[in-house]
Amino acid sequence: MLSGHVEGQTLKMFVHMTCAKSILDIGMFTGYSALAMAEALPADGHLVACEVDPYVANFAQDLFQGSRHGAKIQVKVGAALDTLRTLANAQHSFDLVFIDADKTEYVQYFQTLLDCNLLSPQGFICVDNTLLQGQVYLPPEERSANGQAIAHFNSVVANDSRVEQVLLPLRDGLTIIRRL
Ligand SMILES: C[S@@+](CC[C@H](N)C(=O)[O-])C[C@H]1O[C@@H](n2cnc3c(N)ncnc32)[C@H](O)[C@@H]1O
Repeated sequence: MLSGHVEGQTLKMFVHMTCAKSILDIGMFTGYSALAMAEALPADGHLVACEVDPYVANFAQDLFQGSRHGAKIQVKVGAALDTLRTLANAQHSFDLVFIDADKTEYVQYFQTLLDCNLLSPQGFICVDNTLLQGQVYLPPEERSANGQAIAHFNSVVANDSRVEQVLLPLRDGLTIIRRL
């Protein structure tokens, strides 16, 4: 489930490169990507991490307490789409968003981020698993449900005139999206 060391360190580098001060991590699991990105935030930066599973959310929060960067992380337990709507209603926006939760909801995360102005005007969205073990190259009838969802997501992003994107063949595929 972890994004892994190379991707975690890549995300951390992106935080440094973009000087992001607010980050949204959609799909926290045990907190590896969240903590990697939080390490690059300035002391007054913050990261909101969404996780639906209370067990792993508690597990991650214990780990965050062992890091000097853990205080920058706020965990929201619940379905990510509900959390996104709550954050949008409170007029939050984020300089960097990492999408890594339910593959079948990726399109909804993406559209909610743009439609509800959760992405800062100069913000970036990074999306994990956009190659999905190569399934995006298969004919549709040979893909799993997640493979089909990711192929559809890639096509939605490519055809959305509000953004431009590049898919890096890093690990399982990492797409970087920016608003035009
Ligand atoms: C691939 S793991 C995330 C790994 C993490 N980003 C990392 O790099 O360490 C996906 C996580 O998303 C969570 N998840 C799945 N569906 C979700 C949803 N609808 N809302 C919030 N979290 C969800 C899962 O419980 C799981 O912990």
